[in-house]
Amino acid sequence: MRGRECKCVDVRLYARLMNVMIPNSPELCVVVPVLNEHDNVGPLVEAVARVLEGVSWEIMFVDDDSRDGTRDVISDIASRDPRVRMIHRVGRRGLSSAFIEGAQASFAPYIAAMDGDLQHDESLLPKMLEALHDTPGHQGAEIAIGSRYVPGGGIGEWDKKRAGMSNLATKLGQMVLKTEVADPMSGFFMLRRATFDTALRNLSAIGFKILLDIIASMPTPPRIIELPFQFRTRVAGESKLDSGVMRDFALLLVDKTVGHWIPVRFVLFAGVGSIGIVLHMAALLVALKAVGLPFASAQLWATMVAIFGNFWLNNVITFGDRKLKGARIWWGLALFAVICAVGAIGNLSVASFLFGPQMVSWWFAGFVGALMSLVWNYAVSSAFIWRK
Ligand code: GDD
Ligand code: MN
Repeated sequence: MRGRECKCVDVRLYARLMNVMIPNSPELCVVVPVLNEHDNVGPLVEAVARVLEGVSWEIMFVDDDSRDGTRDVISDIASRDPRVRMIHRVGRRGLSSAFIEGAQASFAPYIAAMDGDLQHDESLLPKMLEALHDTPGHQGAEIAIGSRYVPGGGIGEWDKKRAGMSNLATKLGQMVLKTEVADPMSGFFMLRRATFDTALRNLSAIGFKILLDIIASMPTPPRIIELPFQFRTRVAGESKLDSGVMRDFALLLVDKTVGHWIPVRFVLFAGVGSIGIVLHMAALLVALKAVGLPFASAQLWATMVAIFGNFWLNNVITFGDRKLKGARIWWGLALFAVICAVGAIGNLSVASFLFGPQMVSWWFAGFVGALMSLVWNYAVSSAFIWRK
């Protein structure tokens, strides 16, 4: 029967693998994450349509349940223009995961990421596409980046604080990459689907910085071209940059460096734990020297301060995405204190056992005891206090 086996191939899969167009699919998909961009999406579609004349394209809006009627505007445009599509996510946030899901919902062999607030200069899109195309005797780039930090590019009207923050973030971002990129924090870029697919399964998908995530997730450094553009000033709507975005950036950096070996949350939990030790020592000092408590009471007081501090920091930082609110904070704090107490008892018994009957050196016994309680505190708190 061998000769009669079906010889058909999955055309779409084949096209994806070969990075060529499939019938009826546009060549380029512009993925635009949006959150409350009511006044911007209309002008954005017009601007993209204008610059991409002659190219077959689609726009994939990824809306995280905007409350300002953004989706109504998009569906109104889509009813007249089938090139406009949308994914509506509920109970989800994050620019990176929005881009990933938008890209995956399309078959286009080229994918662009662009903000929905008109701050990215759309006239770069055709130049990016051209830079990615192979021409006879010349291999095109794998990623074309709209860059603020190459000659001709700029950050527009940012104040000193935002410019300084962007600068620092860029330096940190560059440190985790094995290849030179002037603007790894840019949210404006285009890449081949085949390139995206090599990174897909290693993506952290945390927070805002999807370009950095993609480049750091690729098995080999990609061929990159950076095209300059001037970051425009936002006219309508508001920026979504807040402290959560910075926390997510820190998470992404940790995940991209040590994430292979240790879960990011554990690193944060341990970091908070070390702050707890400093807190403990400070509280102990105050209780002993300023208040004049006897040592045992001072130590008890310092332990309580440290537990409270650790709980608060873990609630805001380590488990910021599952933060307890209202009355549940008190319930969580009580449970956290119990878990830490059990951890401390475990720590003490393991360390004493190692130091006594096993006769290992004091520092090793102490370290193993402390590590054990850290792992215990982490595992039990994440399972019972900050459950998913
Ligand atoms: N779906 C979705 N979900 N979209 C979001 C979310 C979200 O959680 N948060 C923000 N957006 C959308 C906004 O509606 C906008 O279209 C785009 O993502 C960028 O958000 P802004 O809040 O305007 O970001 P920004 O201007 O501060 O940051 C820009 O600069 C960075 C470079 O410093 C963005 O372009 C980033 O992508 C870029 O990395
Ligand atoms: Mn913006």
